[in-house]
Amino acid sequence: MFTQTLTRRARRSPLLELLTGPHGVDRYTELVDRTWTSGEARAKVVAVRRQTPRSVTLILEPNHAFTGFVAGQHINLTVEIDGRRRTRCYSPASAQGATHIELTIGSHDGGLVSTYLCDNARPGMVVGLDSVGGDFTLPAERPTRILFVSGGSGITPVMSMLRTMRDEGSDREIAFIHYARSPEEACYADELAAMPGVHVMHGYTRAGAGDLTGHFDADHLAAAMPEPEAVYVCGPPALVDAVRAHVPDAQSESFVPPAFSAPAQATGGRISFTDSGVVATDDGRPLLAQAEEAGLTPESGCRMGICHSCTRRKTSGVVRNLVTGTVSTAEEEDVQICVSAPVGDVEIAL
Ligand code: FES
Repeated sequence: MFTQTLTRRARRSPLLELLTGPHGVDRYTELVDRTWTSGEARAKVVAVRRQTPRSVTLILEPNHAFTGFVAGQHINLTVEIDGRRRTRCYSPASAQGATHIELTIGSHDGGLVSTYLCDNARPGMVVGLDSVGGDFTLPAERPTRILFVSGGSGITPVMSMLRTMRDEGSDREIAFIHYARSPEEACYADELAAMPGVHVMHGYTRAGAGDLTGHFDADHLAAAMPEPEAVYVCGPPALVDAVRAHVPDAQSESFVPPAFSAPAQATGGRISFTDSGVVATDDGRPLLAQAEEAGLTPESGCRMGICHSCTRRKTSGVVRNLVTGTVSTAEEEDVQICVSAPVGDVEIAL
């Protein structure tokens, strides 16, 4: 322990940074082990499990630069695919404060990173971690009667909360409804069945007989927990909407791209990506898509306005948020380019 602390301090030493300039200590230590970085949070995959036919569960050992997460939050995960760094955000299923991070990733969305990890993840692989965020979390004072509802891969932040409360020795009254297509696709079923103090109900939307039939409705709510004090729902937008129809103040998180409320309208405006000197003509799509079309490779993660990894400085012009429809006219501001489209000429520091 003492040796580890000493090594960590030595790596962060300003003198060592000076001596190893201009590249810094990390560029040398990562030649020995790619997770030996003091400035960049990274993790090594130490185990790979396949719980269901269309998901992969990764156990990650983070380095000392990773500062942890709160149960329910999401993390940006970066992998290198064909020489390009790709970032997506995922919610850990592991308990808050656990030494290892557990991620369960579904391949069913056809996403580049999730499909790559399902097919290629193996022990020893190193991934980048950053931008922990999200407010889909429990209050410090845990409610006394909590209902969790999840669909598909929305189960992961719920597992993190349940495991965290289990580790705390929680005596709260907890019910959990999880929807999957079939029993074969229901992750964590055995662990949930054995989890003390949690009333678990399964609903299967395509095949198999569960505890509940069909989609979430008033009967499901009554069967799981009538009049809960707090409700947390994570899953596709339709599930979130169904829960909110009965519990308007439910806390929610959805990892499925939201439908853009404002239709894409090409303004023909001039988009200037000022850092790179690239200019494009607006075709109505989000600035991220148009930047990529123009040959740029801006950092991005969720591509749905959640993780903020695509945030860039708009230095002039007007943009519309395609999710909310809000038009933003501030002279200079940070915008999430994955969900922002130009309204006329615009300049972006990219
Ligand atoms: S990529 Fe996540 S907010 Fe834009």
